[in-house]
Amino acid sequence: MNRLRTAFGLGVLALLASSGVAGAADSCVDCHSEISPGQVQDWKSSRHAENDISCASCHGEAHTTAQDSSKAVMPSEKVCAECHEEQFTSFSHGKHNFGWSSLNAIPATHMAPDELIEGGRGCGGCHNMGIKTEAQIKDQLAKGYRYQTNSCDECHTRHSFSKKEAQDPHACQQCHMGYDHPQWEMWSSSKHGSRYFAKLAGNLPDSSAVPTCQTCHLPDGTHENHTAWGFLGVRLPLPEDKQEAADRVTILKALGVLNPETGAATPILDAVKSVDMVRLDQASWEKERNKMLKTCTQCHSESYAREQLEMGDAILGKADRLMAEGIETVAALYKDGIIKKPEGYPFNYPFLLSFMHTNGAAWNEKLDDLSHIDQVLLRMYMKHRMRAYQAFFHVNPDYAYWYGWNMMTEDLGEIKELAKILRATHK
Ligand code: HEC
Ligand code: HEC
Ligand code: HEC
Ligand code: HEC
Ligand code: HEC
Ligand code: HEC
Ligand code: HEC
Ligand code: HEC
Repeated sequence: MNRLRTAFGLGVLALLASSGVAGAADSCVDCHSEISPGQVQDWKSSRHAENDISCASCHGEAHTTAQDSSKAVMPSEKVCAECHEEQFTSFSHGKHNFGWSSLNAIPATHMAPDELIEGGRGCGGCHNMGIKTEAQIKDQLAKGYRYQTNSCDECHTRHSFSKKEAQDPHACQQCHMGYDHPQWEMWSSSKHGSRYFAKLAGNLPDSSAVPTCQTCHLPDGTHENHTAWGFLGVRLPLPEDKQEAADRVTILKALGVLNPETGAATPILDAVKSVDMVRLDQASWEKERNKMLKTCTQCHSESYAREQLEMGDAILGKADRLMAEGIETVAALYKDGIIKKPEGYPFNYPFLLSFMHTNGAAWNEKLDDLSHIDQVLLRMYMKHRMRAYQAFFHVNPDYAYWYGWNMMTEDLGEIKELAKILRATHK
């Protein structure tokens, strides 16, 4: 304990030492060896057990019997911070710290069943990333959800809390996969990923260079994870090319951040800013891009890496031509009164940040208005545009073409066909 106190010099430890926590710790472990032996096993194998960080260090001592377990504290990241300030601070400056807030900034979230949000088995299962405010925790408790108070256990899971586990790219898989961000699928089937698995199987020497998610996104132990483009694939300033600039403006209107009539910034832009969704000036974009380039040059020439990344930027511009055409086609239907503005849409214009893919959902009449053509447009943006450009950055030819670009052209064809039918059948 003395070694620890000098190493960390922290309030928690002083508190533990003065409150006879050792006895409590033994009783926690004794009883829980019967109640939940797997958990105790994990804890016993952890660096925490090695260093006398007991159950009570994180859960407090108020709960002591089989009947009062509701008194156990569910520790937030701040509890971890008492001993791991460096990682806590770094995490709090990163993008992961906005997971919960950005989720809650989306109107659709508040129309979804609580089980999928606070319960954490849908959007909330992945967006349970970020230090929650007191108000957010209160709201969650009020809805009857006691858990999901910690982000640190998303990569080093409880109760092993292992560094090695978090260094394994599988630690990212649960969240970075699927519909709108298939980074796991793209990376694991790229040459980067296949070399990782070949090395794991012993088919490459231990010394071989294989980039994992962590190599490129959490280098040198940092917990701060920004990228240049970010999720929505938009940024400021506008590109120099006139057509590309016009297309980006169309997309910004469909994201609700520019008023489609006046072109002026809307309050949604403030929300986007407040959760750090996009880079709003050249310097902050370049800072992230240059960090990434530096990582590539561990293994590639700078010219090679730069060309690869610039191709990603370029394809995004071209994908945006298709995207803008889709948006304009649907927007014209709104304008001509052929489809009506769904409740919750800020303007009489398509709204990509609605994130909704269902209509006629029996449990919520607010979703009734969403037309099929709207849904095809959302799919084009969320599923296929994401793939078309993210695949370039993750070096995956199949996702870039077949699952990305090709599917965008298919969506656009469907949108145009649907628009024709809607116009022809409109009374
Ligand atoms: C006499 C047995 C006993 C002792 C001693 C004990 N626990 Fe528990 N603990 C339980 C039981 C029973 C549960 C409830 C399990 C359930 O919900 O099915 C529980 C639940 C918990 C939970 C989860 C609470 C929740 O709401 O899900 C935590 C955390 C916990 N214990 C930590 C501790 C800590 C820390 C100590 C020591 C300070 C401790 N326990 C001592 C029996 C015990
Ligand atoms: C380093 C901190 C830490 C230590 C040490 C720790 N826990 Fe936990 N425990 C957590 C975190 C974080 C959670 C998840 C909280 C949440 O989801 O809100 C958790 C959740 C739990 C839960 C409820 C969730 C579940 O999966 O059942 C139980 C029960 C529990 N811990 C028991 C224990 C026991 C018993 C010990 C000691 C053997 C222990 N914990 C030691 C951090 C810790
Ligand atoms: C009371 C102090 C204390 C608290 C609270 C605490 N830890 Fe630790 N943690 C330690 C110590 C001590 C070590 C061992 C560090 C070392 O030897 O460098 C450690 C090690 C770790 C490691 C590295 C394990 C490895 O495999 O090398 C991780 C990850 C970790 N803790 C995560 C957490 C998380 C997450 C929380 C909160 C849920 C937490 N810790 C709470 C003291 C604490
Ligand atoms: C499988 C895990 C997962 C689920 C489920 C999920 N998300 Fe996400 N979400 C992510 C990841 C990972 C990112 C970041 C992806 C990227 O940058 O490519 C993200 C990004 C976002 C962003 C952009 C955040 C930003 O600051 O750039 C929003 C907003 C969002 N999700 C909302 C939602 C909503 C609303 C739902 C439910 C309808 C949802 N997510 C369901 C994992 C998930
Ligand atoms: C997105 C995944 C992820 C999340 C979330 C995460 N970590 Fe980590 N953590 C890592 C990775 C990766 C490493 C290994 C870094 C390295 O290679 O040095 C690590 C290492 C650590 C270590 C060991 C440091 C060392 O070098 O011994 C500690 C302690 C730690 N994290 C604490 C935390 C705490 C506290 C939180 C929550 C505030 C947290 N982590 C959240 C991925 C994560
Ligand atoms: C529990 C789910 C979860 C896990 C596990 C997870 N992430 Fe994330 N990640 C997210 C969410 C959610 C976001 C979007 C945060 C937001 O809303 O701003 C995100 C965002 C990111 C971003 C920023 C993207 C951008 O828009 O700039 C990067 C990079 C990233 N994660 C990398 C990783 C890596 C690497 C790992 C594994 C070591 C990992 N993540 C593990 C959920 C997760
Ligand atoms: C060889 C390096 C490399 C590896 C390995 C890698 N990425 Fe990326 N990742 C990138 C680059 C480059 C970008 C685009 C950065 C930019 O915007 O300029 C990116 C972007 C992202 C983004 C933001 C995407 C968006 O929506 O724009 C997320 C999230 C992400 N990566 C997660 C992961 C995950 C998870 C893994 C592992 C399964 C992974 N990456 C593996 C280089 C890598
Ligand atoms: C840790 C080493 C390492 C890092 C870091 C790394 N790469 Fe690679 N990369 C490789 C290796 C090894 C190959 C396989 C070369 C071959 O195909 O012969 C490769 C292959 C590639 C390929 C060719 C894939 C193909 O299908 O032919 C591209 C493109 C690429 N990397 C881009 C990047 C970019 C961009 C970055 C930075 C964002 C990066 N790499 C970071 C090691 C790395």
